[in-house]
Amino acid sequence: MDVTEPFLADLNSKHTRYGLLERSPVSSWIKHALCGFALLNILIFCLNLFLIFNTNSVAARLIPGPDGSFRDLNDPDDVLSFVPHADNARKVIDGRLFTLNTTSAWDLVGPPSPTTDALWDELSAEGHEIILVNASTLRQAGYDPAKYFSAPLSWNFGPDMYPVQIDVFHQIHCLDVLRKHAHFDRYFPDGKTDWQHFGHCLHILLQNIQCHADLELIPHRWVEKDPVPFAQFSIGKRCRDFGAIKEWNLVHSRNVTHAMWQSSRPLEESVIWPGYGEGS
Ligand SMILES: *[C@@H]1O[C@H](CO)[C@@H](O)[C@H](O)[C@H]1NC(C)=O
Ligand SMILES: *[C@@H]1O[C@H](CO)[C@@H](O)[C@H](O)[C@H]1NC(C)=O
Ligand SMILES: *[C@@H]1O[C@H](CO)[C@@H](O)[C@H](O)[C@H]1NC(C)=O
Repeated sequence: MDVTEPFLADLNSKHTRYGLLERSPVSSWIKHALCGFALLNILIFCLNLFLIFNTNSVAARLIPGPDGSFRDLNDPDDVLSFVPHADNARKVIDGRLFTLNTTSAWDLVGPPSPTTDALWDELSAEGHEIILVNASTLRQAGYDPAKYFSAPLSWNFGPDMYPVQIDVFHQIHCLDVLRKHAHFDRYFPDGKTDWQHFGHCLHILLQNIQCHADLELIPHRWVEKDPVPFAQFSIGKRCRDFGAIKEWNLVHSRNVTHAMWQSSRPLEESVIWPGYGEGS
């Protein structure tokens, strides 16, 4: 793609030059040379078109694009405005390392129990993943509605409504999957698990952490109970209001049951993506 713009600009400037040259007296060998040069240019142009087309189809095989939310991080209107995200809230990250088991966070990250499971289900919006958006919201998020699944009329959400989930809840689901694998015997008593699901989750979280690549600084200081300088993992950050997003999602989520997914069928006009729609 990087080649196209300079090339096209070059081609345009040559067109202008030919136009000027045609009106000036030019000897015939120059005309022939120019003709050959023009032909060569057309060939290069065709080759470029081929390469551009090919590059795009390679990308399409690797990622489910060109659709996708490539939104501008610095655009104040970036986040879809219908979700109240209240970003920029001042939060302090709880980075306790040696005293975490004395806090209520231990219910979340300590040994598993029904309390722990319920907390993770709530955080990951388990059973409340699905919200419905209209075609213009889907387009605003960067997706071509013609290529995506809209809820069948029998689901009673009205026409042209698209089931979606908000990414943060899938990411928390993935963290929960990792947590469950750390307590393998409890969650997989028959000793079996889907390692692709585990790997998918590890991969999702890695890529998202890399994507955000937080640049806050973690300093060190002398502490009473450690003979070497100890890192201060508890630091201040500007954050989205996750609680507000979770509340909004809970209120707006719709109950799409397993049976509803199972009984849905493609329409004649439905786009069927190759493979699993995510490249081979
Ligand atoms: C927390 O863990 C430490 C060991 O790291 C242990 O000595 C202490 O008893 C635990 N406290 C509680 C409240 O479980
Ligand atoms: C969704 O509906 C099903 C069947 O009506 C019900 O069993 C389930 O509890 C509901 N789930 C939620 C989250 O409301
Ligand atoms: C689509 O949904 C958004 C968010 O709920 C709403 O603001 C907008 O008016 C809707 N557009 C149409 C065409 O219904």
